[in-house]
Amino acid sequence: MIMTEKLLDIKNLTVTFKTDDGRVLAVDDLSFSVDYGETVGLVGESGAGKSVTAMSIPRLVPSPPSQVEHGEIRFKGRDLLKMNIRDMRKIRGKEIGVIFQDPGTALSPLHRVGNQLVEALRMHRNLSFKEAWATAESWLANVKIPDAKERMFVYPHQLSGGMQQRVMIAMALIQEPDLMIADEPTTALDVTIQAQVFNLIRDMKKNDSAMLLITHDMGVVWEMCDRVLVMYASQLVEEGLKDEIFSHPAHPYTEGLLKSIPSLGAGTGKRLPSIRGQVPSALDYPKGCRFNDRCPHAFDRCEKESPESVHLSKTHRASCFLLVPEQKEGTHGL
Ligand SMILES: Nc1ncnc2c1ncn2[C@@H]1O[C@H](COP(=O)(O)OP(=O)(O)OP(=O)(O)O)[C@@H](O)[C@H]1O
Ligand code: SF4
Ligand SMILES: [Mg+2]
Repeated sequence: MIMTEKLLDIKNLTVTFKTDDGRVLAVDDLSFSVDYGETVGLVGESGAGKSVTAMSIPRLVPSPPSQVEHGEIRFKGRDLLKMNIRDMRKIRGKEIGVIFQDPGTALSPLHRVGNQLVEALRMHRNLSFKEAWATAESWLANVKIPDAKERMFVYPHQLSGGMQQRVMIAMALIQEPDLMIADEPTTALDVTIQAQVFNLIRDMKKNDSAMLLITHDMGVVWEMCDRVLVMYASQLVEEGLKDEIFSHPAHPYTEGLLKSIPSLGAGTGKRLPSIRGQVPSALDYPKGCRFNDRCPHAFDRCEKESPESVHLSKTHRASCFLLVPEQKEGTHGL
């Protein structure tokens, strides 16, 4: 059988944290892939496990307290979880870039912007200091930092939040990674800057490079993504092409997410009520479907059993009993 290798292929990933209160099940048996050139959105409420999933890929979740209990993270065919830390460092930045929510995570307060960009460039490319400086300066201009020549000499704190964010994007993109992970890259910015930053990311991304974009904003997903992954309570509850998710959401949670945002494209700007109730605690998930106490369609079985993944098309699947008229053999969860 001929297998076409995906850029990223995650299988049955389970990540937990040891805490004083007990074991936190942050990511539960998660499987998905990202192909070359795709932009995949990862959505879900706070605490769903989005960041832990994404940051597990470049192995940036501190361990301890975290532990990958199970699973594989294959990147270009190699399991990152089995890689030694030296090889992993080589992949970070060069092949897998990360844009964090907070520029402070990625930028050093002690070094000038230009030197940080040059260092990032020279870590992975054989350039003289002079060449790297010129390239870095052109990237600052690319990300629309005014007076890039002068700004190469400033420290991050001398820039506005929006500019710091752009420097971080330049740092991540300058190395032309094959996979870019962006975890709520614009949450800290005001709305007009957010749009600019997304345009930048889209324009600067190499055509065949992929992006995993975490956001709680379905409007951003609509603008940016090809496919969507929906997480609820540490599990993947739905996955599909953008049009499938927006036009035919299959999981009641996805329906709720879509209803809780202002109508897309309608321009009403009216915020509809968010999903009632609260996400259960990752310290002690209830039996059955984890959405059952908030689901408007829940019935007896939902409290007792976990729904399996149901394929609705080649590209669309979701886990809900409403989608299976009768119990079929298959995988547990998505
Ligand atoms: N360092 C940690 N120690 C203990 N638990 C953690 C730690 N980091 C994350 N968690 C837990 O793991 C679960 C998943 O967290 P995660 O940060 O991935 O959520 P998220 O979907 O990114 O949420 P948000 O939208 O708020 O960023 C949560 O229950 C969280 O409390
Ligand atoms: S399995 Fe039941 S509780 Fe869960 S989403 Fe479907 S109907 Fe709702
Ligand atoms: Mg997060």
